[in-house]
Amino acid sequence: MTTLVTTITETLRYRGNIGQWSWVLHRVSGLGVVFFLTLHVIDTSWAFFYPELYVHAIAVYQTPLFTIGEFGLVAAVVYHALNGLRIIMFDYRPKWWKHQSQAALLVLGLTIMLLVPVFVGMFGHVLAFYNEPDRQTLGLVDVIVSQLPFVAGIGGAAILAVIASFAAGMFLQDTAANATLKRGSSFERFWWSFMRVSGVLIVPLVFGHLAMMHVIQGVFDITAQGTTVVGTTAVNLSGTSVEFVANRWNFLFAGVAIWRFYDFALLALVVAHGFNGLRYVLTDYLMDRPLFRRAAVYFCVMGASVLLILGGLALLNTIDSSAIEIARAEAAILYSE
Ligand code: HEM
Ligand code: HEM
Repeated sequence: MTTLVTTITETLRYRGNIGQWSWVLHRVSGLGVVFFLTLHVIDTSWAFFYPELYVHAIAVYQTPLFTIGEFGLVAAVVYHALNGLRIIMFDYRPKWWKHQSQAALLVLGLTIMLLVPVFVGMFGHVLAFYNEPDRQTLGLVDVIVSQLPFVAGIGGAAILAVIASFAAGMFLQDTAANATLKRGSSFERFWWSFMRVSGVLIVPLVFGHLAMMHVIQGVFDITAQGTTVVGTTAVNLSGTSVEFVANRWNFLFAGVAIWRFYDFALLALVVAHGFNGLRYVLTDYLMDRPLFRRAAVYFCVMGASVLLILGGLALLNTIDSSAIEIARAEAAILYSE
């Protein structure tokens, strides 16, 4: 914790150079996206497990607070992706290092250039929604209360990780610790390469996903009745978010459920990349606290496993007409409460 505070205060005090700022921005944007991803994959899995909860989750995405967050999220993904590509390029071309501050500035410039048209597109959807005479959104209290189970879940996982780390600390023998150390370097080399390969693969997947969910159709169109669902030929007849997801996951192109495969690849790569990144950050700040350092690793493994299992199971199952009926009934009472 002290190291975290020192990182921020020293960067501010010395008005760090562009390299230092881009490191901080890369870290903060990566962490922000991991946090969103945790809520998002759990929420999305409700489309199959608890359709009524998914209706509520998308209604939360359509509130002013989340709309602001959505702009921040897109900015974070775009900056992190472009800066990640810069890091990868310099890792493999160390002789270009002398140009690294210009490259960091170029990344900032490209991020802004890319965000301007994207934000204009996104803003168009927001304006269209707020110009509708019968638009409805949830209140702030409702939004905050709906996120409390996540806070409790994350807190509970952290406590569990500390208990597990304490127990492991009592049973771990020196020999086991030494074996881990020896294994350590090849293990870390694997993850170093994985972060780079996965980063490159994630770029088209996550940019494609965001283009579909923010620019081509916005977050508000997920519940637009009678519209053709992006990437499919199916129409969202009930105008529920559950039918939107069902239409995408059940859509067949040449007999293949393409969006399920797409989401599988996205899920596996972003979860492994994001939670390994979270492990880097947490263990970085807990170097001198072995109990909490080990707990941080357990916490990341737990988080990644929960998302892979929940997200994977939702993708393997089929959202049927009864789930859409439940969603329709829930949507009808959502704003009348
Ligand atoms: C869009 C394409 C992406 C690219 C090109 C990319 C690239 C990178 C690279 C090169 C690193 C540095 C790895 C290292 O230090 O060894 C990194 C770290 C990280 N990434 Fe990504 N990434 C991408 C997407 C994501 C996403 C979607 C998330 C969140 C789910 C994420 C979260 C993180 C985190 C938390 C770190 C650790 C930051 C740190 O150590 O300061 N990244 N990324
Ligand atoms: C507010 C922004 C976003 C919205 C509205 C959104 C919307 C959706 C929707 C409707 C689905 C359901 C399946 C589908 O239609 O393909 C989905 C699935 C998914 N999204 Fe997003 N998305 C957003 C941002 C992101 C970001 C930034 C990431 C990655 C970092 C991401 C990763 C995923 C993954 C992995 C799945 C599959 C989840 C599962 O298997 O349960 N999404 N998203």
